Amino acid sequence: MNIQMVDLKRQYHNYKTEFDAAVAGVLESCQFINGPDVKLLAEEMQEFLQVKYAIPCASGTDALQVALMALDIKPGEEVITTPFTFVATAETIALLGAKPVYVDIDSKTYNIDPSLIEAAITSKTRAIIPVHLYGQSADMDPIMKIAAKHGIAVIEDAAQAVGSRYKGKPVCSIGDLSCISFFPSKNLGAYGDAGMVATNNQALAEKVGMIANHGSRVRYKHEILGVNSRLDTLQAAILRVKLKYLEEWNRKRREAAQFYNAGFSGTKIRTPFVADFAEHIYHQYTIQVDNRDSLQKLLNEKGIPNAIHYPIPLHLQPAFHNGSLNFPVAEQISARVISLPMHPDLTHEEQDYIISAIRKFLGE
Ligand SMILES: Cc1ncc(COP(=O)(O)O)c(C=O)c1O
Repeated sequence: MNIQMVDLKRQYHNYKTEFDAAVAGVLESCQFINGPDVKLLAEEMQEFLQVKYAIPCASGTDALQVALMALDIKPGEEVITTPFTFVATAETIALLGAKPVYVDIDSKTYNIDPSLIEAAITSKTRAIIPVHLYGQSADMDPIMKIAAKHGIAVIEDAAQAVGSRYKGKPVCSIGDLSCISFFPSKNLGAYGDAGMVATNNQALAEKVGMIANHGSRVRYKHEILGVNSRLDTLQAAILRVKLKYLEEWNRKRREAAQFYNAGFSGTKIRTPFVADFAEHIYHQYTIQVDNRDSLQKLLNEKGIPNAIHYPIPLHLQPAFHNGSLNFPVAEQISARVISLPMHPDLTHEEQDYIISAIRKFLGE
């Protein structure tokens, strides 16, 4: 059986005519940078996310860096985030000379634990970056309340959660700024690197747009320091095709998650917990299990793709290691989680194969 973690080939062939036409249209126009699809994608994303401004950029990592730059985060200042995320969340803070200050995660949702945030705030704290891990929103209300009380900004890292909701509101419509990744394997993925910043704040939107384009509003006039982080037209054209199907694909992911949940019921496997405030879009279907490493070995032997998101929490990464930090929940969870194949075109036959291999491993 040829199971894929994310089956991009199957997806391409299911919609080949549309993708090919979108690419051909851009090639024919020769408007490779800032072509019409870039503006149209921004408008469509504004509607989808229910935000006033959506600014395309070159990757999710750039989206975070540009958002932090738009807030004027300076060397020595502090930004609070989770240690249980992809490196880009903290890397961009550190690259600007600021300090990532970690707060441990909730043991059920794996997202930042809002009850621990206030104790981490100092006079240097400028922002909080909650990450909507695996496609489930962090608990935003208490986070927004703490931020308002202390006069600091909130940047949603929604790289894994486009289309997900918090208490009925789309993620990206809640924080001061939000960052999206369109990395190819994301729920809404380009055919290369791509990203976006979203906000309801006009001044921040203008600044983000300038920073992503060399600090420039008018050609060859550079008002502030910026970077080259434009989204190319080919990627925007591909994303516009995919955006039409995103809700349907996210629904299919939820159905696949339910199929897994039913298959694992009655076993010792801890299936993903969904908080009552969240509408999960299962960017990852991540289970918790004893003997995770032995299970991974078995899955590899059986040709079942899998991944550990993430094996080393950021406070223990050599690039960041700064002494005696310890976040027991993140450390415990990182040793127990494993993500299984998840995409909208997963078949029941494929899932049955995966479920039965895992149940056999458990001796069930
Ligand atoms: C939580 C999180 N933040 C940021 C990023 C960075 O996005 P990109 O890979 O598009 O630079 C990712 C993507 O992998 C991510 O998962």
